[in-house]
Amino acid sequence: MKLVVAVTGATGAVYAVRLLEALRATGSEVHLVLSRWAGETLRLETDTTVDTLRGLATRCYQENDLAAPVASGSFQHQGMVVVPCSMKTLAGIAHGYAANLIMRAADVTIKEGRKLILVPRETPLSPIHLENMLTLARLGVVIMPPMPAFYYRPRTVDDVVNHLVARILDHLGLEQDLVPRWGSPGED
Ligand SMILES: Cc1cc2nc3c(=O)[nH]c(=O)nc-3n(C[C@H](O)[C@H](O)[C@H](O)COP(=O)(O)O)c2cc1C
Repeated sequence: MKLVVAVTGATGAVYAVRLLEALRATGSEVHLVLSRWAGETLRLETDTTVDTLRGLATRCYQENDLAAPVASGSFQHQGMVVVPCSMKTLAGIAHGYAANLIMRAADVTIKEGRKLILVPRETPLSPIHLENMLTLARLGVVIMPPMPAFYYRPRTVDDVVNHLVARILDHLGLEQDLVPRWGSPGED
């Protein structure tokens, strides 16, 4: 699968790390864009360096490189994920304001009718945030906030992270064995 993954400066950089690791395991071709603030949150929140994260992708682009292939509708891919997605980037995407490569690639993904998954992170959510999400959901964008579920009794932060990443992979139509499915044999 050929995918675009964008990482922004909302808290939750670990979700991006795990998704890129999981996508690598599937053999997917991943085109990665990191915002400047994604680099900062990665440094503050994880032990993963920007270089290590970039090493998990097939190709990487700077957020100000508007000439990158992913900025064009002629670049064909099977889906784009913005994880985590800041309220700033969410707002830009919701209003077609392609101020950097992440917003431009998302804008193109929408206009070309391709799958777009956002993992927006903020709390509490203001009416502005909610309206931006609703605007995008009505366009068919998958809004997947990182809300932990507890019915499967997570024991570690890793369990919580894997659960969200597994749901993203499900939406991309990729096989995953990060978490057992609810109701599958062996689950209580
Ligand atoms: C440690 C840290 C955590 C942050 N968490 C969030 C967050 O959860 N949601 C959010 O919208 N912005 C958050 N921000 C603010 C964004 O980084 C900031 O709005 C930035 O301009 C987003 O730009 P980007 O979308 O281009 O990455 C956080 C910033 C820092 C330094």
